[in-house]
Amino acid sequence: MTKTGYNVKTIEWQNDEVVMIDQRILPLEETYIHHRTWQEVADSIKTMAIRGAPAIGVAAAMGMALAAMQSPAATYEELKEDLDKAARGLYETRPTAYNLGWALGQQARIYEKEGDPGQIRQRLKQRSQEILDEDVAMCVAMGEHGAPLFPEGACILTHCNAGALATGGYGTALGVIRSVFKRDKNIKVYVDETRPFLQGARLTAWELGQEGIPYCLITDNMSGYFFKKGEIDAVVVGSDRIAANGDVANKIGTYTVSVLAKAHGVPFYVAAPTSTVDLSLPDGDHIPIEEREPAEVTRFRDCECAAPGTPVCNPAFDVTPHENVTAIITEAGVHREPYAESLAAAKKGK
Ligand code: MRU
Repeated sequence: MTKTGYNVKTIEWQNDEVVMIDQRILPLEETYIHHRTWQEVADSIKTMAIRGAPAIGVAAAMGMALAAMQSPAATYEELKEDLDKAARGLYETRPTAYNLGWALGQQARIYEKEGDPGQIRQRLKQRSQEILDEDVAMCVAMGEHGAPLFPEGACILTHCNAGALATGGYGTALGVIRSVFKRDKNIKVYVDETRPFLQGARLTAWELGQEGIPYCLITDNMSGYFFKKGEIDAVVVGSDRIAANGDVANKIGTYTVSVLAKAHGVPFYVAAPTSTVDLSLPDGDHIPIEEREPAEVTRFRDCECAAPGTPVCNPAFDVTPHENVTAIITEAGVHREPYAESLAAAKKGK
């Protein structure tokens, strides 16, 4: 797989196959999975071989293109039936990431208009590549907008992985950090390990290491200690869905970090493309929160960490109220309270 200037390549077309780095086994192994069907892509999204809201969106768009190629349909009606089925299957994989439905909507615009099946197949593949390219461009723009918000030599805390792996490339929150590092080599990043899937320990630490950005891995319950010692100057995280009022769904544990940041007077920034903003939801209470397998909490790889039958809760995301968010960084700029108007304007500008 060819690597871009950002060292990490998450997903790409190789001829008529969709190739993804397997994020379940990083950083121990760099293995790539080849997908020839939309069902294989759906499985990779569900099982988190690919994860992170923007990357899930790109994968879903490519999955739709595969569905069109797989379909033996000769007529528009037959093709549409197969594509509707694939769209439903892909949509059901993960409920919180808004980019998933957004990307499927982009593809639906193409195939819902009656047309020649051959041309629809071609357009779906082309649009999926555009979605990937646009995502990288949006991440780079977020980096440009976000970098000036950080003081010199900043110690920045991040949660989960909102890097190149979670997007088409470059990253949202990690993209901002990359852009800060380009200007200032004296920054340091505190990386929350992010229980239970360990996106911070396994993926963010790995990405930062590849780029030579100084970082320190901490367990999730250590951040309060570092806030209290005055060692954290700013927080930046990504998002899976942002409601119209600026409430932010992100990886479980983000809300806790936002409360700590507020209590210690530390700015809390969210970086996300406008494709993550869901204007149809008035606030975060309406955001669907995915509940994942208990086994993610009770075991790690082959190791059981709890007694058999232990009752478990495993919500994968939480919602940070907009009052705890200092600013939201999108490709359109830096948004501050009140968010409703400026987020709507940014979306409209697309
Ligand atoms: O469950 P995941 O790993 O898909 O969750 C990912 C996150 O919560 C990220 O922080 C979010 O998608 C932003 S990624 C640019």
